[in-house]
Amino acid sequence: MNKILVCISGASGANLGIKLYNLIPKKYKKYLIVSKNAKTVLQKEENIFLNDDISAPPASGSFGIDITFIVPTSMNTLAKIACGISDNLITRAASVAIKEQKKLILAPRELPFSQIALENMLKLSKIPNVFIAPPVIAYYNNPKNIGDMELFLIGKWFDLAGIENNLFKRWGENE
Ligand SMILES: Cc1cc2nc3c(=O)[nH]c(=O)nc-3n(C[C@H](O)[C@H](O)[C@H](O)COP(=O)(O)O)c2cc1C
Repeated sequence: MNKILVCISGASGANLGIKLYNLIPKKYKKYLIVSKNAKTVLQKEENIFLNDDISAPPASGSFGIDITFIVPTSMNTLAKIACGISDNLITRAASVAIKEQKKLILAPRELPFSQIALENMLKLSKIPNVFIAPPVIAYYNNPKNIGDMELFLIGKWFDLAGIENNLFKRWGENE
């Protein structure tokens, strides 16, 4: 069974990470890491690790996570990943994904992006299997509400990860 890790860092939109986690199909084994700044009501759920638990399984490449999402990615977490800093479980899991060349999907959330953040994104985008996929909404799928917009984003992140989904209406698809 493929293993998927979802990380929620302290940018605006932590609910997107939670929705993404909940929408992962049952055939995958899923795990969640929440940073202190993003921690809300999640701790009771299964397979949730605390970000300061640096000895939790996702800290090791041998645990075999196949896909890592960091949704949303704060500029702080982005910068650490770009520099190879692994000072908590999320940044360590990102380093593991990069060294093992597994898929790492980052959703940086800030507006506007600073030059530093843009340079960090460019640097990371050059690494195999790292995807810079900010939560940028579309209009062609005629979203009726924020829920539709979020499903579009999660569907796009699943597409990058290779997770089959029908979460949004694709361009050219019949009404
Ligand atoms: C209400 C609130 C909203 C925030 N939104 C963002 C954001 O959208 N993007 C961002 O990069 N940081 C944002 N921050 C700042 C981060 O939480 C802060 O940089 C923190 O150190 C990130 O820690 P982490 O990367 O370990 O989660 C926000 C902070 C607060 C309190």
